[in-house]
Amino acid sequence: MKVLVTGGAGYIGSHTVLSLLENNYDVVVYDNLVNSSIESIDRVEKLAGKKVEFVEGDICNKDKLSQVFKQFKIDAVIHFAALKAVGESTQIPLSYYQNNVHGTVCLLEVMQQHKVHNFIFSSSATVYGEENDVPYVETMKLGTPSSPYGASKVMVERVLADLALSDPNFRGVSLRYFNPIGAHESGTIGEDPKGIPNNLLPYVAQVAVGKRDKLGIFGDDYPTKDGTCERDYLHVMDLAQGHVAALDWLNRHSEFSGVEAFNLGTGNGTSVFAIVKAFELAINKEIKFEVSPRRAGDLPAFWANANKANQQLNWQASRTLEKMMEDTWRWQSNNPNGYLA
Ligand code: NAD
Ligand code: UD1
Repeated sequence: MKVLVTGGAGYIGSHTVLSLLENNYDVVVYDNLVNSSIESIDRVEKLAGKKVEFVEGDICNKDKLSQVFKQFKIDAVIHFAALKAVGESTQIPLSYYQNNVHGTVCLLEVMQQHKVHNFIFSSSATVYGEENDVPYVETMKLGTPSSPYGASKVMVERVLADLALSDPNFRGVSLRYFNPIGAHESGTIGEDPKGIPNNLLPYVAQVAVGKRDKLGIFGDDYPTKDGTCERDYLHVMDLAQGHVAALDWLNRHSEFSGVEAFNLGTGNGTSVFAIVKAFELAINKEIKFEVSPRRAGDLPAFWANANKANQQLNWQASRTLEKMMEDTWRWQSNNPNGYLA
């Protein structure tokens, strides 16, 4: 089975490509490299001992996409390609809607032209917005995320729902990721943010390796156990395997049409202080930090109810927090400058 992976050179995409190859799927990666390096694909090929077809291109370029569908007999698409920096999305919202919403519509149109119906979408816990209580369950109504990034994910979920209503052949899965962290245990592929990291773990790892002076902890006065925000962190290889589980599910359910959402998380919340402690334990070194003001838009605490993915996809996040920290550190210490080094 041949899978087109858009955004496959990125953080989650590269780990998923590896899992796909390990599970005997053939992979074509389509990526414009706006936030990634082709080096990630070379390393995935080495780890898997298999070849990946790579096409550099933008999902908004329908002619180029169409050529890819003509050249390769694609059976399914896993769609990671998107811009993902929440803060940046408030500065350049039009780029986010263009890339994430319009780009997805272009991809879906080209898929329809080429009669490819299996589609897995990178959604996010952010679609639950501020309106829902935790833990988040798939049966909840989608919320109103505060950022254009979050809104773009809600919009695409709506596009998929409408497409499924209109096209009885469409078979879509929205995977709502919680907070993926960590790296492949080889330490050769991992998260390589450009510039100052927006997310917690890359920041902590860069403090540990000496690239940043100290971590700013965004608020310690939240209504949580220790006052810092709680999130559902899951290992990126568990998340990668969630995509294989979703593809296997589509293959097992040949009668299925429509669109189905699944939360991918561990079901546990961990605070920022607890993350810092766990990282210190893993590397046996102190992480310098200071408490700074709250970050706009942060919610105090959220985590997944992952029962649906457990039961229907036979998927469970099994790697421990300790393993997430160790693997983050192996990647960061072996590659202090990411893929550039
Ligand atoms: P990433 O930036 O590492 O990967 C995205 C990839 O898409 C990059 O390789 C980038 O070059 C590519 N890309 C972006 N725009 C493109 C376009 N127009 N055409 C072709 N390629 C394009 O991000 P990631 O963390 O791997 O996230 C992957 C997906 O998962 C995204 O859709 C993101 O919104 C979603 N997601 C991520 C997280 C997270 O915490 N990392 C959480 C929830 C959802
Ligand atoms: C963020 C996005 C979310 C997106 C996800 C993955 C916001 C409000 N939410 O989730 O929409 O899907 O990234 O890209 O941006 N923290 C610090 N110091 C730091 C960085 C983070 O204290 O330097 C704290 C944050 O306040 C938060 C926790 O660490 O409580 C996790 O932050 P982060 O990794 O950015 O993830 P989310 O905010 O959960």
